[in-house]
Amino acid sequence: MNGPGERRTSAADALPPGARIVASVLPADLARLGEEVAALEEAGVDWIQFDVMDASFVPNLTFGPDVIAAARRHTSLPFEAQLMVSHPDVLIEPCIDAGCDRVIVHAESTHNLHRSLMRIGERGARAGVAVNPATPADAVVNVLDLVDLVLVMTVNPGFGGQAYLKSMEAKLRVARRLIAGAGRRIWLEVDGGIAPDTIETCAEAGADVFVTGSTLFHDPRGMAHAVQDLRARATAAMHDGVAEGAATRPT
Ligand code: DX5
Repeated sequence: MNGPGERRTSAADALPPGARIVASVLPADLARLGEEVAALEEAGVDWIQFDVMDASFVPNLTFGPDVIAAARRHTSLPFEAQLMVSHPDVLIEPCIDAGCDRVIVHAESTHNLHRSLMRIGERGARAGVAVNPATPADAVVNVLDLVDLVLVMTVNPGFGGQAYLKSMEAKLRVARRLIAGAGRRIWLEVDGGIAPDTIETCAEAGADVFVTGSTLFHDPRGMAHAVQDLRARATAAMHDGVAEGAATRPT
């Protein structure tokens, strides 16, 4: 096991096929963020997502690169920043310098999505692209060669604890087909309302990475139970989905 702060750059890729469980730190006690991210690693999450919000692109304000940097030395888990901001380009380098392995840019947040994603790769980090509920999956088709992750939001971004939008499952099926056509390893991530009663149909629709906050932090049996339960439900559903002829997933 790596010591805190020694980064596992592609740990998630080294794991066997199956669902990836990602922690959103939105519900975390930010006064104890170091302890919280260490506890998330202990609980077995695959990586950690920082929800960066600017009270402009979304109606909430959270944290930026300095908070991410403060958390970095407390865990060896990979970090990703989801930039829910109106000017993502100014935060790409600072988030990478703060210790993010991946930076996710919303397709709706930049005038030149292709250039923004290229900048992430040029800095040696992994790029992800996110789409809000009203944005079609086709919005990412021309940047799939630049990303290793597509994030389909299953709530309108801005807050944790919202109700899962089942209507996003049709978009997930489209996104899964687009990824299959790209012929390269691209994660299909979902975020918002992911819980025991929503994760299985989400996985059957094509998702393989599941971001969760409320379920993880509020499980009465603890975070490790939440991780194990969600991963088991999603992995079983993913295999069922393949068995039923769903779009093939990369191994
Ligand atoms: C929305 C946030 C939330 C958070 C997870 O902008 O990104 O989706 O990460 O929230 P829960 O798991 O509480 O729905």
